[in-house]
Amino acid sequence: MGNYPKYSQVSNSGEVPELSRQIRRLMVKISIGVSLILILATTLLMFRFGIGSVNNQLTLVPDDVYHMDYNVHNLSTSIKNEEIKLGFEIFRNTPLHVGPMQKDSTKIYAGNNLACASCHIDGGTKPFAAPLIGVVKRFPQFRGRENKMGTIEERINGCMERSMNGRMMPEASHEMKALIAYLDWLGRATPPSGKIEGQGFLKIQIPERAVDLKHGESVYKEHCVICHGQDGQGQLLAENDQYLYPPLWGSDSYNNGAGMTRVITAAQFIKGNMPFGTTYDKPVLTDEQAYDVAGYINQKVRPTKPNREADFPDLVKKPVSTPYGPYVDPFSPEQHQLGPFQPIMDYYLKEHQLRKTK
Ligand code: HEC
Ligand code: HEC
Repeated sequence: MGNYPKYSQVSNSGEVPELSRQIRRLMVKISIGVSLILILATTLLMFRFGIGSVNNQLTLVPDDVYHMDYNVHNLSTSIKNEEIKLGFEIFRNTPLHVGPMQKDSTKIYAGNNLACASCHIDGGTKPFAAPLIGVVKRFPQFRGRENKMGTIEERINGCMERSMNGRMMPEASHEMKALIAYLDWLGRATPPSGKIEGQGFLKIQIPERAVDLKHGESVYKEHCVICHGQDGQGQLLAENDQYLYPPLWGSDSYNNGAGMTRVITAAQFIKGNMPFGTTYDKPVLTDEQAYDVAGYINQKVRPTKPNREADFPDLVKKPVSTPYGPYVDPFSPEQHQLGPFQPIMDYYLKEHQLRKTK
């Protein structure tokens, strides 16, 4: 109280109180005006973003796309909706429909028993697990691996030939169309660009050192073994031979041309999603742990992608952590697999003015 003598002196002296009363009245008017403007602006924003609206025709902001209903089983019965539901089934139970567990061998495209949803978690709707909400609108798109514009069908086949260690699905096939119908439906609330928050993976601070494989192994034992197993082969469900926990290496895993074989990509996926149940806002592992365990699993033996050398016709565009050559830089294959990556990134920035992030 005794700290504010000057304050009380002012209000006690002559015409100053009158002046301060006028100022106060003015302030009240200003704040009423400001409040009205704020209320108006909030209302406009709410309508713009579809909150409190009576119809669902309004554009949704990217963040809102994660709160839509993506349960295909809530869809009514119609020819289009049946195609969407089939697409989801293929996405979730890939081996049964287009993989090794399909009885009709002409329909087998995937070479392993992973599902699309093994990596694109929650049916492709989990932020920072390469969500596929809006992906159909994001294509056609320039692709460095082929150095040309690519379509959504070609992109799906990219995962078929590498992540699923399989062969191309014909673009006109029933299964390809169903997958795209499902992905298209996932994007129903996205802006025309198809761009959303949480696309791709969580960015990490890449440690300025090579992967420490010993540390990677201990992280694996502490955080991954319980589900993916000592031998990395995951765990099958007794009732239907489908994976409860998918394998991380070996003959039934993604092949050595897959995006997940890049240490930086795998570390980002792991940081935001593993151990299972982890979300981007509450990561369990540190960047260092994710980096080392990613290096550890990617040094294990996995199927070979034929003709990998033909990837990235413009070699300058090859991501720094692509584990296989040829390269147009002076760094060893080992450094491209295990880092340190900063010197390689610095090289491309200096020599080619390219800022590489993976
Ligand atoms: C082993 C993990 C894995 C599996 C299994 C997998 N993918 Fe992918 N997929 C990836 C990675 C990694 C990317 C690259 C994501 C990035 O860098 O943004 C990707 C990207 C994609 C993209 C482009 C995404 C975008 O935002 O541009 C599509 C479409 C896609 N996958 C579809 C599929 C389909 C369909 C299947 C099943 C047939 C499948 N994937 C299986 C790992 C996987
Ligand atoms: C609680 C069980 C559990 C733990 C612990 C766990 N995972 Fe997973 N992991 C899963 C499941 C389940 C999936 C597939 C997601 C799906 O089908 O929805 C998966 C998928 C993956 C994939 C992509 C699919 C594949 O098979 O390649 C990678 C890579 C992966 N986990 C790495 C790790 C690493 C590294 C750790 C340890 C840091 C870890 N996981 C810990 C359950 C687990």
